[in-house]
Amino acid sequence: MERRFIESVRFPFREVSEASAVEKGPGRPPHWEMVFWWTRKPLISARAVIAGCLLPEDTNPANFLRSIGIVVKKRRADGRPVFEKSPHRVKPMLRFDGIRLLDPFACFGSIPLEGLRLGLKVTACDLLPVGYIFLKAVLEYPVKYGRQLIKDVKKWGEWVAQRLKEDPLIRELYEDDVAVYIGSWEIKCPHCGRWTPLVGNWWLARVKDREGYKRLAWMEPRIVGNKVEIRIRDLNKELGDKAIRKAKVEGLKVTVNGKEFRVPESNIEARRELATCLHCNQSIMQIDPETGKHYTNTKNLPEPIKNRLEGYVKFALKLYNKAYGLEESIPIPARIGEIPVRLRLLVKVKVQDGNLIFESCSEEDQEKLENARQEIKKLLQTNDPDVPRERISPYSVRYLFPILYGINEWYKLFNPRQLFTLIKLTKLIRDAGKRIEKEKLEEFDEGNAFTFAEAVTVYLAIALISMADFNSITSRWAPHAWTKVNRAFTHRGIAMIWNWCDVSPLHKYIGTWNNCLQNVVDGIEYLVSAFCNTFGSYDGKKNLNRNLKVLLDDATTLIKLGFEEKVDVIITDPPYYDDVPYTELSDFYYVWLKRVLSDVYDNRLIPRFLPEAFFEKINDDWVEVLTQWEKYSLNEVSLNPARLGLNAKLKDGIMHFQNLLNSAFITMTSKLQNDGLLVTYYAHTDPDAWKALLEAGWAAAGLQVSNAFPLTTESAQSVVKQGKLSMDTSIIVVWRKGGQGSIEASQLYEEMVNAATGRARELMNMGAVGRDLVIGTLAASLATATKYREVRVMGKINTKTLVDKYIYPATYLGLARALAKKADLRNNIKSPDAMFYLLVKSILAGAKKKVLESTDLRLFSIGTSLDLNTAIKLRILKAKEKEPGAKVAKAKTLTLVEPTSAERSKIAELLEARGINPANPKLRCTIDALHLIEYFAITYSREQFRHKLEELRVNYPAYVEEALALARIMARILPSNDPEKGLSARVVEYLAPAPGRLTSFIEEEGENGDREPG
Ligand SMILES: C[S@@+](CC[C@H](N)C(=O)[O-])C[C@H]1O[C@@H](n2cnc3c(N)ncnc32)[C@H](O)[C@@H]1O
Ligand SMILES: [Zn+2]
Repeated sequence: MERRFIESVRFPFREVSEASAVEKGPGRPPHWEMVFWWTRKPLISARAVIAGCLLPEDTNPANFLRSIGIVVKKRRADGRPVFEKSPHRVKPMLRFDGIRLLDPFACFGSIPLEGLRLGLKVTACDLLPVGYIFLKAVLEYPVKYGRQLIKDVKKWGEWVAQRLKEDPLIRELYEDDVAVYIGSWEIKCPHCGRWTPLVGNWWLARVKDREGYKRLAWMEPRIVGNKVEIRIRDLNKELGDKAIRKAKVEGLKVTVNGKEFRVPESNIEARRELATCLHCNQSIMQIDPETGKHYTNTKNLPEPIKNRLEGYVKFALKLYNKAYGLEESIPIPARIGEIPVRLRLLVKVKVQDGNLIFESCSEEDQEKLENARQEIKKLLQTNDPDVPRERISPYSVRYLFPILYGINEWYKLFNPRQLFTLIKLTKLIRDAGKRIEKEKLEEFDEGNAFTFAEAVTVYLAIALISMADFNSITSRWAPHAWTKVNRAFTHRGIAMIWNWCDVSPLHKYIGTWNNCLQNVVDGIEYLVSAFCNTFGSYDGKKNLNRNLKVLLDDATTLIKLGFEEKVDVIITDPPYYDDVPYTELSDFYYVWLKRVLSDVYDNRLIPRFLPEAFFEKINDDWVEVLTQWEKYSLNEVSLNPARLGLNAKLKDGIMHFQNLLNSAFITMTSKLQNDGLLVTYYAHTDPDAWKALLEAGWAAAGLQVSNAFPLTTESAQSVVKQGKLSMDTSIIVVWRKGGQGSIEASQLYEEMVNAATGRARELMNMGAVGRDLVIGTLAASLATATKYREVRVMGKINTKTLVDKYIYPATYLGLARALAKKADLRNNIKSPDAMFYLLVKSILAGAKKKVLESTDLRLFSIGTSLDLNTAIKLRILKAKEKEPGAKVAKAKTLTLVEPTSAERSKIAELLEARGINPANPKLRCTIDALHLIEYFAITYSREQFRHKLEELRVNYPAYVEEALALARIMARILPSNDPEKGLSARVVEYLAPAPGRLTSFIEEEGENGDREPG
């Protein structure tokens, strides 16, 4: 079985990581701007992985990088590379014609896209209709139709814009020169009965660049009679741009030339169910929904009432949403009288010569919104099928927060005007689709005219869903950003917000139809040019589906693939544990895509384009699939117990996920040629997520790990600078068929330690640090273990035991041994605290502060058997001090307690902080001994030091021996900017018989930290 380059330790994953990092910034692939999607893989990483799977093991790394397009022009002072152009834009010089590639979790298609560029025969599949449609848009249509698409998408997008502009209703709804309306909710105060807006953030602009502030503006409430009016404070206008440059902003306090201004405080704190009335200043808190009575003090209330209480704001919004568009048919509690919440427009934004002009909204503006509400009412009364009334998955409260406020159907995520416009566009695009088909009949045969119309309509539909993302009541106005309209989607789902944006669809600003259309056109342009080399001309007939198959299929079964069909490589990126609930979130897109791409008959949606995505064939009928969550959620390979029902526990969710992941691996393995490679990207670093992966790939599917490495889209420099291991990292695991036999765990352990030690040394010689070093070393243990089908202690042990008791410890011991070898010393670090300390110091070498996040902590703790509570009690680790004013709870992190300077006073402080009294030391562990000995070395003369040391040795012989061994290793391996290098060097020097000799050796070593000593 011929080994491939990706299985070699020389595979240049760090250079590939650097090139991938470019795709996180301005070098992003343009087609990603078409629409938001989660966890898209950098194209250049996909290219490197594919090519690495197909080239022989002894490929020259430098040639490899050049041939896939990674050419570093120069390096910046901090070591970061500069590329001529983003590497994904460079045409690869390699081709692998005829090789078959499968990506069963393909979605936005980074892996298949690069596969096509390299000449492979590609099958891309996704479970979800939304993913399937994106695969068509990213891969199939550009391959099939090439440049012609660009022209027609532009032309028909403009046709839609023109129709929208001519629509008399739309014209009435927006003022011509307004780009964005900023609105919020307004609530009826339960104390004074007046309406008060709820404003989460009064800032309108707080934009800064290197030279200081560029734009400062905010809103202020002004009470006029019974109304809260909005006044604009625009400091640029008041004081001039120049003065603003020197402004100081601390929270809500703004100081310019000694003059102080105050931005108003937010009057809504949803988490605490607290709002403040801007008229009477009283707190708006909780309501008893049964009686309609409002309470600010609930302490002495009887239990039954207490249990019924609900946040007033939440209660009001729920009522509003229940009635939205159906006002007449919803009963209102008598005591409340009317729905106590309504939408309020606050400010309108105009754009003049690139500058933003803010004006307060007027009664007429408000009226426009109300007119739209009347239109929505009509649509609902006539059962218009273009209002997306599908249910939002009710169990998704953890990541679709608006559900908590009664937003339980998708249309409720939009205010009436946003909704009306989106519906109008839906109808127009549907109409365009028909016209395109008719027009193309003059050029193409019937089938092709239809699919071409399908292609163009799909792109227009994508522009529409992107626009919806910028135009909902959860699309935030972001004062500090240059692009101020934020999407509703964030990485974690959809949050509930108070200041939303309502964009004029025909303006040129971000989130408008024109803008979203332009992003789509730019995306197609890039995609077409990407395929240019591969396909030369775009003669549709010749290349039609020649190299590409896009499937709507489930990776756990792959029934559409053909029973006998086998592929040469599978490269894929399954969902990561509990990271993104794709099914439920992307219903946001699904409900619109379905409408635009289907036809309407008799007030129902009926199949038109891609019916397989939106309808189910039952007997001879097409039945509409209402939402993705109702059909697909139980098949999505991710951890989400809520899908299993109200009573499901985490462990049920884990079991369900594991079953699906196992099936996916078993199915993939069955589709793979015997000597083929399977490569998985995995971005979750939780040790449990790892076990799940190993359980599926090794235990269930019988594969062995042949290599693993991290692809970090963060540079090694920033790892050191921030002193954190876990950042944006995907772990690539390379799998093969062919594990055999069984082994005793103890024997395996020895084998793994040896393999890990060897691999860690190789990696250190290559200059690997941080997670690169840990994962690279872990790979050697994994490869060793999975060579066998079974590991035994008495009987067969399970994956969890194997990983926790053998694989992690062997890896960390291997790392420690490699460090000792690097320092040219016998390995004599054994105790958990010493091993932990040494590993953290050397793996995060050079970082000023060494911060470990919970997943890394667990890894290190399992790997070194150091209990974290013990480590905190021993004050080897400490919790981070709370940042003042930080509202959002940060992920739990712990910092290593270590010397921050080689000054005597600082070491004394360190001892005090760690609870060690140098006059009368009581030692609890090796690290106590180490820090104390370092203190002695910096405090006393050589003779005194030796004397002190002997005293200590009498009471704590083992701690002292190990501490001295640690000092010897650290003196050699720590980088010169670590103060503990000098400290431990002094210790070593005082121990040595001939003074001076070692010090000079160490200084030399410091310059060449990577070199093998001796
Ligand atoms: C991490 S994403 C893939 C991203 C992709 N590699 C890219 O670069 O754009 C995982 C995808 O797996 C899909 N998926 C989840 N369960 C699936 C299943 N059972 N079969 C096929 N696809 C599935 C999700 O819809 C999601 O699009
Ligand atoms: Zn009031």
